[in-house]
Amino acid sequence: MTDKTLQPVLNRLYAADVHDKADIEYALSLKDQAQIAELFAFADEIRRRHVGDGILLRGLVEFSNNCDNTCKYCGLNKTNTNLARYKLTDRQILNCIEQIANAGIGTVVLQSGEQADLDADWLAGIIREIKIRFDIAVTLSVGEKSREDYALWKNAGADRYLLKIETTNRQLYQNLHPQITLDNRLRCSRDLKTLGYQNGSGSIIGLPGQTISDIADDILFFAREQFDMIGIGPFIPHPATALSDCPPGNVELVLKTIAVTRIITKDTHLPATTAIGSVNGNDYRPDALMAGANVLMPNFTPQPWRQLYEIYPGKRCSTEAPGSCGPCIDMMANVIGRTIDLSRGDSLKKKRKECA
Ligand code: 5AD
Ligand code: FES
Repeated sequence: MTDKTLQPVLNRLYAADVHDKADIEYALSLKDQAQIAELFAFADEIRRRHVGDGILLRGLVEFSNNCDNTCKYCGLNKTNTNLARYKLTDRQILNCIEQIANAGIGTVVLQSGEQADLDADWLAGIIREIKIRFDIAVTLSVGEKSREDYALWKNAGADRYLLKIETTNRQLYQNLHPQITLDNRLRCSRDLKTLGYQNGSGSIIGLPGQTISDIADDILFFAREQFDMIGIGPFIPHPATALSDCPPGNVELVLKTIAVTRIITKDTHLPATTAIGSVNGNDYRPDALMAGANVLMPNFTPQPWRQLYEIYPGKRCSTEAPGSCGPCIDMMANVIGRTIDLSRGDSLKKKRKECA
């Protein structure tokens, strides 16, 4: 049965060109389980209509956990001197890509901590080598860099870039990231867009001090900027950080945020993030996939390094061998009646623009 108060809100979120923040807050604040189920079902239907039933896969290679930043929530932050640091060799990285390509997966994500002295020419060389040897989309996720570096990597063949905004609340952003600024992050995001990258953003839900109004502002930001991909996950406290005693993000609120983001952004690629697969010791990725998400990111970082990419504790798949995600993901798709899509999974927004 459809709910008479909720349905008009959901219809407005879907159809409006300019979104009413009060509608977003209303949906994020739902408490009644039947209404929440209706929100998720509505988002699931929009997902089916705009991106279909295929779950896109992105093979993840966490090539280095070195980081110069001091983000207060992240286990990789440079003040965590107990963490052994690593960087994979060129050969190790290319072996990972080979495994991803052999698994038939059409996209690789190269991720690392944010390093000021990351050798941009070295990374450009790796991208070129990948593009020569494999027919695979390359997504980078190495943090805030200069426009020149972004341009170099784009020219080398990189297709996409992930740089989550984390939170759009300026004060909260500054508290959590003493070393960096929201303005520079926005500058990076704009540079990436104008350089022609398929552009990814995202947020953390349940950051200490974050409100429903903040999350609604994040969603309005996502809608305004027309991102191609948006990753949303719960905050998970890491014992070696300043936020170790804070509670984790609320799973239901994460799912509501994914659902509202799906309804508003329609055809954006939304991953069921590893964080939603790791919070409270449970795997809520199937729930996310049924509330609007359409992407999974199996981890191909080799052991023993994979365990050292500990952005938060209890990270899903961190003890498994590379390759073990395949059967697990097949089973997940099966259980929820979906299929696996191994294609590159390019942005549907770009395709639409090219057809216009
Ligand atoms: N909890 C949840 N997500 C986190 N990230 C980093 N630390 C945490 C944490 N403690 C996320 C950030 C970053 C991504 C790589 O991991 O959103 O962009
Ligand atoms: Fe990696 Fe399940 S998705 S083991």
